Parts: sequence; C-alpha cells; structure tokens
Amino acid sequence: MTLRHQGGLSTQKMSFVTTNLGKFKEISAQMAGHGYVLEHIRTPYPEIQADSLEATIVPGLQWVLERYERPIMIDDSGLFIDGLRGFPGVYSSYVFKTIGCDGILNLMKGMTDRRARFECCIGFIAPGKDPFIAKGVAHGSISQEKAGTGGFGYDPIFVHEGYSKTYAQVDIAEKNSISHRGRALAKFIEELPKLLV
Ligand code: IMP
Repeated sequence: MTLRHQGGLSTQKMSFVTTNLGKFKEISAQMAGHGYVLEHIRTPYPEIQADSLEATIVPGLQWVLERYERPIMIDDSGLFIDGLRGFPGVYSSYVFKTIGCDGILNLMKGMTDRRARFECCIGFIAPGKDPFIAKGVAHGSISQEKAGTGGFGYDPIFVHEGYSKTYAQVDIAEKNSISHRGRALAKFIEELPKLLV
C-alpha cells in the first residue's frame, strides 16, 4: 500500500512482527532510507526448534500471516561460535536468556580460536504468495570481555572482522552497513518491489 509522497519519494507501509526493540530500530532505520515505513507488531509468535534458521522461519511466517493477513516480515537470527562447534546457533535466544554474554565469555575462557559469525534470516510473506527468505552473514570474533552500551543481545561481545570495536560500540547506521541483518535486509529490499506486485 502506497501511503504518501514526501518530496517525490513514495513511502510504502510494511509490517514487522518482533518483540525485540533492537531489531525493530535497526530494520526500520534501514528501510526508511528506501521509502518504507515500518509498522511494529509487538507480539510473540511460536518459534519451532529446528536445525537451521531457515527451517524455523517458515512456520513463523505462516503463523503471522494467518493472524495479520497482510504483507509481513519477521527476523530470525543467531550467533555461531566456531570453537564451540556452532553453539549457541539456533539456541541463541534461550542461551542469551539463561547464561547471557557473561556465560559465553566463561565458556570461552582460555580459548584462542574466538572466530564467530552472526546469521540473520529475514522472512517475508504476503497473502496468496510463497514465503521469501533473505539471509545475511557477518563474520568476526568473540571479544575477551564485554564492551559498549549500544545495540542488544550479544552485541557487547561481537567484534566484526577488521574492526576493533564491538557491535555495542558502533551506532545503528554503522552496524547496519556491515551486519548480518543489514546484509539480509539489503537483499530483501532489492527484491521487495517484485514481491509486492
Ligand atoms: P532471535 O532471532 O530473536 O531468535 O535471536 C536469537 C538471539 O540472538 C537473541 O538473544 C538475540 O538477542 C540475539 N541476537 C539476534 N540478533 C542479534 C544482533 O544483531 N546482535 C546481538 N545479538 C543478536
């Protein structure tokens, strides 16, 4: 649905279901730059436990579409640590709620291989259409200690490849320009005009 024109830029409304305000802020900032106004639907939806983010996201999309019956998006992300064989991965949410960043740092005490990656899947569905998934990956490492107050989740312990600061020490625009979510979203935004036809 086209809403209005601002100096020639048409804005379109898109709905995003998440209880995570950090995700909403990052995604709405990036989409605003492409003329999309993001409606925040702050409702939890069932996240089935599966081996991959992609496998989790499709049932979630079908659940939100049944309830909201409009073009709608969700985000499923995770932190995968090489030296822990990919843990917490698809369990990232539970692990964050239970042991958090401090628990991860404790598990990694003395480990020299600190390589890790964030993965993000942006899922989109519209009435009568197939689901679309855009994936983004950001490689980096786990810091020795927490640093920074910005961002959310594991941001204080994740240092992007080539950076010396954690994601919690950069602003939203800079995080979006390099992050898993920013990369997934760039692919999604490129596809979106075709998906909305
Ligand atoms: P989910 O996508 O909500 O299941 O997120 C899994 C876990 O990873 C949650 O604890 C999030 O806080 C965390 N997480 C997801 N994306 C990010 C991110 O961009 N930075 C830091 N933590 C994240």
